[in-house]
Amino acid sequence: MSADDLKRAAAARALELVEPGMRLGLGTGSTAAHFVDLLGESVAKGLDVICVPTSEATRAQAERLGIRLTTLEETPRLDLTIDGADEVDHELRLIKGGGGALLREKIVAAASERMVVIADKSKLVECLGRFPLPVEVVRFGLASTRLHIKDQAEDAGCFGDITQRMNRDGSPFVTDNGNFILDCAFVEILEPEILSDALGVIPGVVEHGLFLGLADMAFLAAAGGVEVIGPLDEDED
Ligand code: A5P
Repeated sequence: MSADDLKRAAAARALELVEPGMRLGLGTGSTAAHFVDLLGESVAKGLDVICVPTSEATRAQAERLGIRLTTLEETPRLDLTIDGADEVDHELRLIKGGGGALLREKIVAAASERMVVIADKSKLVECLGRFPLPVEVVRFGLASTRLHIKDQAEDAGCFGDITQRMNRDGSPFVTDNGNFILDCAFVEILEPEILSDALGVIPGVVEHGLFLGLADMAFLAAAGGVEVIGPLDEDED
């Protein structure tokens, strides 16, 4: 099975959770895109759901597929969000933001009754941090904010290069919200809660990619099948 087949298998499993009338959060990234494709097929066959996308890319994809969209202003509470992740640990703590959509992803996940992660099993880690942690920052004061992040991270036991994300053409990567991203190569985040609290109080930091206490379940696809982490564990034999 290719990596793409695995992503689609995880997405297909998540589709089984969707019920008519649900208010859904739609994630961002290549795995979430499979879910949106599959959801679009179900909508074409008559499934009625209403969705909030977590990025302009997902919005465009959902619109192309005829999926009914809303906003958090109109629909501030959602039933279920399905999204990918860059890393997942056994406690369902995540690193997200590889695609730069972490801010809207976190707002949408926090507005949802349940958040379910879909990924191939290579995203499962013993310790978060090998994937550089994305931190969304405002443009003003970038160098100061970067130093502040470094100091706070070191106090939280995290050391490593902090680099501004750039596009292939050398221009700064800009999020859907008009901000920059700093990628923090900490390698090992031994205490994610402490780092999360430390980053959360820095002026200029809009949001970071540690998703703690947000995911309820993960569907992780491997060649042997889809592994479930979370409340459905007991049901899976
Ligand atoms: C987008 O900002 C990210 O949080 C994605 O959910 C994450 O990067 C996973 O993307 P893939 O499914 O493409 O690996």
